[in-house]
Amino acid sequence: MADWGKCLDFGVSIARQVVLDAFEAQKVVSLKTSPADLVTETDQGVENLLISAIKEKYPTHKFIGEESVAAGASPVLTDSPTWIIDPIDGTTNFVHRFPFVAISIAFAVNKQTEFGIVYSCMEDKLYRAQRGKGAFCNDIPLRTSGLEDITKALVVTEIGTERDDLSLSTLTSNIYRLLKIPIHGIRAVGTAAVDMCLVASAGADAYYHVGMHCWDIAASALIVSEAGGVVHDISGGKFDLMSRRVIAASSRTVARGIAQVVEAFPCERDDGL
Ligand code: IPD
Repeated sequence: MADWGKCLDFGVSIARQVVLDAFEAQKVVSLKTSPADLVTETDQGVENLLISAIKEKYPTHKFIGEESVAAGASPVLTDSPTWIIDPIDGTTNFVHRFPFVAISIAFAVNKQTEFGIVYSCMEDKLYRAQRGKGAFCNDIPLRTSGLEDITKALVVTEIGTERDDLSLSTLTSNIYRLLKIPIHGIRAVGTAAVDMCLVASAGADAYYHVGMHCWDIAASALIVSEAGGVVHDISGGKFDLMSRRVIAASSRTVARGIAQVVEAFPCERDDGL
């Protein structure tokens, strides 16, 4: 098995480096797919910095980056070594200075994620995992809560960027049905990557979401698995990184309990297949 540890260390060093200047910059905000889907020049700037630094060191590697895809690049995952990048996960938080913003970097080979890095910049928390080698936050090993009883669960989800009637009614009725189970509570932090790292670090027991993208969760899905959690499709079936649907949980039982009550609204796959 190839050891991608050096690539991981390089990814960690550039994730930390680029935020130092970027977060001080003036925010110039534009819209993408909806009035709630924001992008700033910082998102684009950070992605360019990350990609050019990686390209210089690994010229043959491929990229799937949120802003490159927005600019027309193809988001199809091949067997080639591929970096999957969200330069700012939590752009709306970033614009409003709500203090949860992350850089998410995953690295996949043969369509399998080899390592994931989520740097929650404002908290200065560096989450990372390498396949088969565990998950860590600031070098401290992570374990999920292991909770089995859904009635004791704290669940995170996201409101997302869709504002059409079907998406909004599905989203709110999912929250209603979960609260009626009942569960302990629902939270939304505003960054899918950090939501999943909260599951990995036992701050929450589960996360579910429809509509996020592969770059939001590629890194944190590995972090959850390596911390002992489970990652499934929203239906409870096999997780598909490109499907824009996920449940991450402390245990199979909690994941199944969520899959039984939540429904998905239709959304186009990232790879368009
Ligand atoms: C968004 C965040 C948010 C989620 C959206 C994502 P971005 O990513 O992860 O929590 O609800 O679906 O698009 O645009 O800030 O990178």
